[in-house]
Amino acid sequence: MCGIIGCVGRGDDTLDTLVHGLSKLEYRGYDSAGIALAGNGSIQIRKRAGELDRLEEALGSENDLSGTIGIGHTRWSTHGPPTDENAHPHADCTGSIAVVHNGIIENYQSLRDELEADGHEFESDTDTEVVPHLVEAELDAGASPDEAFRAAIDRLEGSFAIACVLDDSGSVFVARNDSPLVLGLGEEETYLASDVPAFREFTDQVVYLSDGEFAELWADGWRVTDASGDRIEKSIETISWDPEDTGKSGYDHFMLKEIHEQPRALRQCLRGRVNELEGDVTVPELDDLELERVHLVAAGTSYHAAVYGSQLLCAAGIPAQAHYAHEYAISPPPLENATVVGVSQSGETADTLAATREARRLGAETLALTNTVGSTMARECDKAFYIRSGPEIGVAATKTFAGQQTALNLLAEAATPGLGDRDLVSALRDLPGNVQEILDESDAEAVAEAYLDADAYFFIGRGLNFPVALEGALKMKEISYEHAEGFAAGELKHGPLALVTSKTPVLATVTGDGEFARKTIGNVKEVEARDAPVVAVTDRRSDVARYADHVLDVPGTHPRVAAILANVQLQLVSYHTAAKLGRSIDKPRNLAKSVTVE
Ligand code: AGP
Repeated sequence: MCGIIGCVGRGDDTLDTLVHGLSKLEYRGYDSAGIALAGNGSIQIRKRAGELDRLEEALGSENDLSGTIGIGHTRWSTHGPPTDENAHPHADCTGSIAVVHNGIIENYQSLRDELEADGHEFESDTDTEVVPHLVEAELDAGASPDEAFRAAIDRLEGSFAIACVLDDSGSVFVARNDSPLVLGLGEEETYLASDVPAFREFTDQVVYLSDGEFAELWADGWRVTDASGDRIEKSIETISWDPEDTGKSGYDHFMLKEIHEQPRALRQCLRGRVNELEGDVTVPELDDLELERVHLVAAGTSYHAAVYGSQLLCAAGIPAQAHYAHEYAISPPPLENATVVGVSQSGETADTLAATREARRLGAETLALTNTVGSTMARECDKAFYIRSGPEIGVAATKTFAGQQTALNLLAEAATPGLGDRDLVSALRDLPGNVQEILDESDAEAVAEAYLDADAYFFIGRGLNFPVALEGALKMKEISYEHAEGFAAGELKHGPLALVTSKTPVLATVTGDGEFARKTIGNVKEVEARDAPVVAVTDRRSDVARYADHVLDVPGTHPRVAAILANVQLQLVSYHTAAKLGRSIDKPRNLAKSVTVE
C-alpha cells in the first residue's frame, strides 16, 4: 500500500539505490513511481504514472540528475487517479521541499482549504501534497527544518509513514503513525523504507520505528525522537535472511518461485518445534499461553487460514471463531476471556491491526501469528509466533498461507499439551516432502489449459477443505481476473447451483474417505448432472475420481495436512491460468501486497 524509500550517503549511487529500492517495494503498489534528489541546494523530482519501468525510461534519457540525498515512492492510489501529477514526491510552492508518503491523511481537505486560503498552490489531487506546504508554512514562520517538520506532522490525522527532504539540509526527516517504517544503518550511509528488502542488499542492521516516532538521518548518523524532539533510545536488530531471498531465482514470477519455496518454508516453520519421538509439539513462544477460547482476526488469504485454524482449535476442544478483522474492529463479540490471534503475513494490515488494537483496548490477551519479524503487529501484541516463510514478494500469498496453516496446527497442538496427535506429528514431518511431490508431478497446467474459456470457476470443499475452497477462489480471481467463488460444498444447493453450467468448472477438494468425502461426492454428482466439468483434488481415498473430468492428486496423509497439500494444487491451477491469459501475475491490477489503509 505504497512503498517509500530514502537514503543518505550513497554518493553517485544515490539514484540507482533509490530505483533498486523501489523495485523491491513495487509489491506495495505500482500505480506510479517517483524520486526526489537533494543535496546541491536544489531538489530534482522525476515521477511517472504506471509501473517503475516508465520512471526508469524517463530517467534513462536524463544525464543531469545529481544529489546525494534521496527519497522515492511507489504508489497504490487512494486520493486521485494514477497520473504523473498525483505520483509522489510532492513539493511545496517553491520546489525546495519534497515529501513521499504511505498512508491516508484523513483531515487533508481542511488543511488544504486552509493552505489555499493562505495562497499555497496545489498541483495534485492527493492528500499528501498538504505536507510539503505545511512544512513550507512553518519554515516561513521561522522554524528550523527539524521543528518545521515536526510541527507539520503534528497537524496530520490519519496513517502515515513520511519522508521529507529540503534543498539545503544534509538529512532526511521521517515520521511514522500507523504505517510501517524501518531504518537501515550502513557503514557510511543510512536508509529508510517501508520494508527491509528495499535496502537489504546494502545492510542487515535495522531499527524499527514505532507510532509517534520521528527520525533524522545523515550519512554518518541517525537520531530518533518523540514529537517534542526528545531523543528515544532504539535497539538495532540484525536481519537474518539473505538479499537473494528477495530475487526471482530464475523463475518467471515471484509467485511461482514462492509456490516452489514451500517445502523449504514449511521445514523452517517446523524446525525445532515438533518432537517426533514424543509425538508432540514444543513452541517456546507459546509457553504460558492458556487458551480458554480464541478469536482469530484476519483479512483475505489470512482470513482463510484463520477459518482453517478455528476448526483445528474447536476440534481440540477450544471454542474458536474466525472473524474478518475489519468487522471485528468495529463490532467485536463479547470477549469471554478470549485470546485474540491476529493472523497476518505482513503484520502491517491496517484492518487486522485495528482488530488486535481493539482487542487490547478491551483487555484481551493478544497473539500475532505473522511472517514478519519486527512488524507492527508482532511488536504490539503480547506474544508473537512466527511462521518463518521468508520474504514473500508476489501479491498473491502462497507459501505464507501454507505456513499459516502449518503454524496453526502447531498452535492447536501446543494449546493441548498431553493430547498430542502422533499421526499429525508424523504427517507434519512428511509435509515438506509431500509438497515437493505435488510440485514435481502436478497436472495443474493441463487443467488450466482445459478451462481457459470458462465463464467462471467454482471451488467447493467441506470441513477443513472449505477454507481451501475459499482460498482457491481468491487466488484465481486476484491473479487471473476471472470470476471465481468458493463455497462450502453443502451450500451449493442453497443457491449457487443456479450458476452452474457446462462452462463453469467446479474444483472439488475431496480428501479422506469419511462422511465429509461421501457428502462432497454427492455435491459433485449434483454439479455433474448440470453438465459442469469437475476437477477433483483428491488423495483417492474415496472414489471421487470416477466422477471427475480431471484429477489433481495429493499424497495420502492426515486430514489436516491434506488440506495444506490440496491448496498447493489449486495455487498451481490459478498460476497457470493467469500465465496462459497473460496476466500481470506478481502485480495484479488494483491490488497491493500490504494493505496498510482501512
Ligand atoms: C492474498 O493473496 C492477498 N494478497 C490478500 O488477501 C492478503 O492475504 C490480505 O491483504 C491480508 O494480508 P496480511 O496477511 O499481510 O495481513
